[in-house]
Amino acid sequence: MSSLPLRNHCPYTLDGSASDIHGEAAALRAMGPATPVELPGGVPAWSVTDPELVRRLLVHPHVSMDAHQHWPAYLNGALPADWPLRIWVDIRTVQTAHGPDHKRLRQPLVPAFTARRVRALASQIADTAAAVLDDVAKVAAAAPDGVVDLRTHFASRLPWLMVTELLGLPEAMHDGFQRVNDTVFATDLTAEQAAANTAQATQLLGALIAVKTEHPGDDVTSALVRAHRAGRLSEQELADSLWMMMGAGYGTTAALLDHAVVNLLTHPDQLDLAMSGRVGWDQVVEESLRHQAPVANFFFRFLTEDLHDEATGLTFAQGDALVINYAAVGRDPGVHGTDAHVFDVTRPTARKHLAFGHGPHYCMGAELARLEGRIALPALFSRYPGLAFAVAAPDRLTPLPSLIFNGHRELPVRLEGTSNRWT
Ligand code: HEM
Repeated sequence: MSSLPLRNHCPYTLDGSASDIHGEAAALRAMGPATPVELPGGVPAWSVTDPELVRRLLVHPHVSMDAHQHWPAYLNGALPADWPLRIWVDIRTVQTAHGPDHKRLRQPLVPAFTARRVRALASQIADTAAAVLDDVAKVAAAAPDGVVDLRTHFASRLPWLMVTELLGLPEAMHDGFQRVNDTVFATDLTAEQAAANTAQATQLLGALIAVKTEHPGDDVTSALVRAHRAGRLSEQELADSLWMMMGAGYGTTAALLDHAVVNLLTHPDQLDLAMSGRVGWDQVVEESLRHQAPVANFFFRFLTEDLHDEATGLTFAQGDALVINYAAVGRDPGVHGTDAHVFDVTRPTARKHLAFGHGPHYCMGAELARLEGRIALPALFSRYPGLAFAVAAPDRLTPLPSLIFNGHRELPVRLEGTSNRWT
């Protein structure tokens, strides 16, 4: 059986600028449980949209995340050398490893994410959120029109500070890493931009590893450096794991907070339910994860052998690439009903989402991200009960140009708005 052809024979071309993630997800769902697509750069893959098929594939022994072993197009040089999505398969981390390599790369990260360690972060998250919200007030006060960008100063800021804490990042390096992180995961970059980002990331990571080798601490970077020195991680795996942790913990949680804020301001009745305690903030977080999967598409998985899925009748060929369309999965009408596109914090199926994945690669930071949401969202709305958008309607917000991270470029707000939340 031959794998998908590597040139423009795909029925659906994914929009690298990600201007309408849910429109695209709905169109793909209508085409079937999995659909051949063309990725930016003309590379073919399957977009998998059906929740049950996703569950089956994510635990299937013939599905791997390791392009270095299992993607013929990558190994035989058929991919363009300057393919802008290369970073997603080049890096050597838990997210691109299979079988024993996956276990080996996951092991040094585990201690940072035990239930006890994450619970212990609650007071630190609350303190950090309070400090972040103090800064939000300062930024608004300094702006001539009183407008502050909540994406930069809240939704991105808190997760970034928590990731820098987990990794033990020296403060002097915060801004440099954040700048590269903010652009490196865009899926509409030119080859030159992607190469420049990678070069800068490499240089910053080298500096971080040097600091932590000399001055180790009780942090994830030091744990990874120790594993490297004990021969359990190669030099590349060490650098790439650090890079991956920053991306995994930051843009994702920023997207969760971003969309939760937009949805709550758009649905003041639901905000009231949460503020009055009639609906828990945990439920708000779960509905937000379902309705707006922060990782809209997950790149990549590969078939190590031909696979026929009885339930759907689909056959995937050895070497085919899979993209898991978590945005589509969260709004599946079969699971959530015909109003799956509606944000509803009272929805009984809110928790039936796969936003953190499923199976051996299930998100390590899921409980941390949930905790950040459950603490930061009530802190924001208690502190600024008059919060209102400084744009006329939700469709005036510009989406991030990323097929992966589902968020907005900016969330301009006024802290003391009118009774209309969109002004
Ligand atoms: C709302 C926030 C988050 C979302 C929606 C999210 C989502 C995901 C998804 C979809 C995967 C891949 C699962 C798969 O396809 O099988 C993943 C993996 C991962 N996530 Fe998260 N994530 C979030 C926050 C975090 C945070 C805060 C951290 C750490 C600080 C983190 C660390 C990881 C790691 C290390 C993996 C790789 C696990 C593996 O491959 O074994 N994530 N996440």
